[in-house]
Amino acid sequence: MTKLDPAPESDRHRAPAYRPAPHWAAVLAAVFTLPLLYVGGSVTTYRVGMAVPDWPTTFGMNMFLYNFWNAPFGVQVEHTHRLYGAAVGVAMIALCVWFFLHETRGWMKAFGLAALTIVIVQGLLGGFRVTRNSTALAALHGCLGQVFFAMTVALATFTGRDWLSDARPTPDVKKVRGLAVVTLALTAAQIGLGALVRHFSGSHAAITHGVFGVAILGIAAHLFVRIKKNPEPKPSLKSAARITEVLAGLQILLGIVSFVMLWPFDGMPRPVGFYQAVTRTLHQTNGAVLLAASLVTALRAYRHLGPASASSHPASPSSPTDPVDLEAVA
Ligand code: HEM
Ligand code: HEM
Repeated sequence: MTKLDPAPESDRHRAPAYRPAPHWAAVLAAVFTLPLLYVGGSVTTYRVGMAVPDWPTTFGMNMFLYNFWNAPFGVQVEHTHRLYGAAVGVAMIALCVWFFLHETRGWMKAFGLAALTIVIVQGLLGGFRVTRNSTALAALHGCLGQVFFAMTVALATFTGRDWLSDARPTPDVKKVRGLAVVTLALTAAQIGLGALVRHFSGSHAAITHGVFGVAILGIAAHLFVRIKKNPEPKPSLKSAARITEVLAGLQILLGIVSFVMLWPFDGMPRPVGFYQAVTRTLHQTNGAVLLAASLVTALRAYRHLGPASASSHPASPSSPTDPVDLEAVA
């Protein structure tokens, strides 16, 4: 068969079969990573990033042998974060080995390897943040942690039943795909802005970040309405967009409370109470969940929607969402 010959109808919708084991392994990796973001966030919230001044050792000892049960609170939080970070790294190595042994899609192996590379860079950044006592590296480390979590969620999406179903793309009449990418890009930029507020303070940055946050909620709500109005909206896409919208609303509530607690953003170190710590750290961690939800929405939009003209070509082979294309990348 030449390249120009259309694929037989039976082949065209062939996607790799759904297998529960790799999917649940990827889901577990994402679920295991999320609390690490909260623990890392607590290190920043309590300003104990330099509680342990050396790395990869802890006070000159092998970090795995250091007894931190009776150490001061700051050391306990920072050291727990290091150990947890190492455990997530090991989990990611195991997941990657699994993908290399059992995954049939080449691009998925590459994506798993990319996630492993990110987590290694993340560990190194965490270490250099300490050895160089660098706030800029702390901010970068905070943002990359969020990207890594989003990648683990993407791995779970790519191995999931919804992604591997034989469903044909429906026409993207309401231009959902473009808006989903805009929502994702704005959320990623907002996380960078949030890191500036968190690590460098400044009331102007905080106000810009707040206004930008409200705009993101508006766009996420608009995206949900567009998905609902598109012909035959796919339930999995609708629910991802709904979750994104709800998380954006929650993020704004947490952000407003954090804002009030931190006003006037003069960078002066003040005692951090329990409720302040929980609210601010939840805002940081929910930012990661929101980023992951907007990524899943964008991925599902490209998986389930095709060009608007697709009404006359319901399964255009050139559609990026066509399962044949997913296979072709392999
Ligand atoms: C490997 C996976 C890791 C992930 C996903 C991760 C994630 C995070 C996150 C999300 C934060 C919060 C940043 C913020 O609130 O802006 C953080 C803070 C921090 N992490 Fe990690 N981390 C990892 C590994 C490590 C390692 C191995 C170290 C080694 C020292 C480390 C050291 C730190 C420090 C010192 C902070 C506080 C930075 C500050 O002063 O604000 N992290 N981490
Ligand atoms: C879509 C909406 C929003 C997103 C995705 C978002 C995301 C984030 C993230 C991820 C951080 C921490 C960054 C890091 O440490 O790496 C942060 C910090 C912050 N955000 Fe937001 N944010 C949003 C809306 C808001 C709103 C509406 C406000 C307030 C009016 C706000 C106020 C703050 C403040 C005060 C901080 C610093 C908190 C601290 O130092 O502990 N955010 N934001």
